[in-house]
Amino acid sequence: MKTLRVELGDRGYPIFIGQGLMGQAELVKSYVKGRQVLIVTNTVVAPLYLSACEAAFAEFDVKSVILPDGEVYKTLETLNLIFDELIGQRFDRSCTLIALGGGVTGDMTGFAAACFQRGVKFIQMPTTLLSQVDSSVGGKTGVNHPLGKNMIGAFHQPECVVIDTETLNTLEDRQLSAGLAEVIKYGLIQDIEFFEWLEKNIERLMNRDPEALSYAIERSCQDKAEIVAKDEKEAGLRALFNLGHTFGHAIESGMGYGNWLHGEGVSAGTMQAMYLSKLLGHLSEGDVTRVQSLFERVNLPVKPPTVAEMNNQAFLDLMAGDKKVQAGTIRLVLLKSIGQAYVTGDYPGHFLEKTLTEWR
Ligand code: NAD
Ligand code: GLY
Repeated sequence: MKTLRVELGDRGYPIFIGQGLMGQAELVKSYVKGRQVLIVTNTVVAPLYLSACEAAFAEFDVKSVILPDGEVYKTLETLNLIFDELIGQRFDRSCTLIALGGGVTGDMTGFAAACFQRGVKFIQMPTTLLSQVDSSVGGKTGVNHPLGKNMIGAFHQPECVVIDTETLNTLEDRQLSAGLAEVIKYGLIQDIEFFEWLEKNIERLMNRDPEALSYAIERSCQDKAEIVAKDEKEAGLRALFNLGHTFGHAIESGMGYGNWLHGEGVSAGTMQAMYLSKLLGHLSEGDVTRVQSLFERVNLPVKPPTVAEMNNQAFLDLMAGDKKVQAGTIRLVLLKSIGQAYVTGDYPGHFLEKTLTEWR
């Protein structure tokens, strides 16, 4: 087992990464504060892992709530199912919530923990690649609104993150690819060495080679933990993690939540950011092709949808609702070079229009 740490003073916490960690009571019991434990999971993950997870918390008063599956259910309405259970079963403020599942479950459970009785503890047990490399670390929690992705939420750090890499064995190929979009993101924003490693090892990851997957998860979590420690609430640096996300979130919500997976939106959105970075003179044609080829080797989309609902104006309207917008300016994460990202609102508006028109 490998242990990393998110250094956030008294809110700091460990990330445990290894095979078969799910059922290990010794690993988690010191992170449970009171007696009451609520495992939050969904209809797909429960039959696979709920009993192993319950076993790890068997010495506590453990209950579970099983939510409907999918991004379309990442809503305030579904969140209420967690509160119904907590309030109905008389959980008190010393309770601990366990997020067992992918990023949707993790974001919702974390948000429920941030809100219930003004804040209780929670543990992340991510079971998708995307949640293991990204969403379970850093304390961003929340739900979608019909008008914008992740628009309602809170920063709330977990007590620990338990990444059982064996859970990836049951993940669908399309979901594995979606997770790889966020892995590639770390290489692009600040880690050229990792990007080059990915170029050499991407087929091993696609074939679920356990050693390669563990390495990619560790390196991604390390990269994420370092930036979160410097900028927990996204005053600046942390916004780099949003490479491709302003375009990608527009695709996700514009196409209807769940039709394009988050990682698929990030992949196409990152390529739009690459194209704009090229228009600005930062990247060469060769750089753009190099990044495109890596996404293509993972079977990820590299162009946004061409449907009428996603015309330039619709894209711009959706992007104008992004959380990085300041004083009406759409701020974007762009690249100076592969491995060096920056955030800016200072680009000619017609370059954005040209990107939306030409990178299709
Ligand atoms: P997800 O949670 O919907 O999981 C994808 C699918 O895989 C679901 O059907 C799920 O039930 C299923 N699944 C989960 N674990 C499984 C397993 N081990 N075996 C088989 N099936 C399994 O999606 P995701 O890609 O994990 O997460 C995407 C969400 O994460 C988005 O809502 C996105 O906004 C959010 N996100 C949050 C952050 C953050 O910092 N909080 C960062 C990135 C993404
Ligand atoms: N996934 C974006 C962040 O955690 O900041």
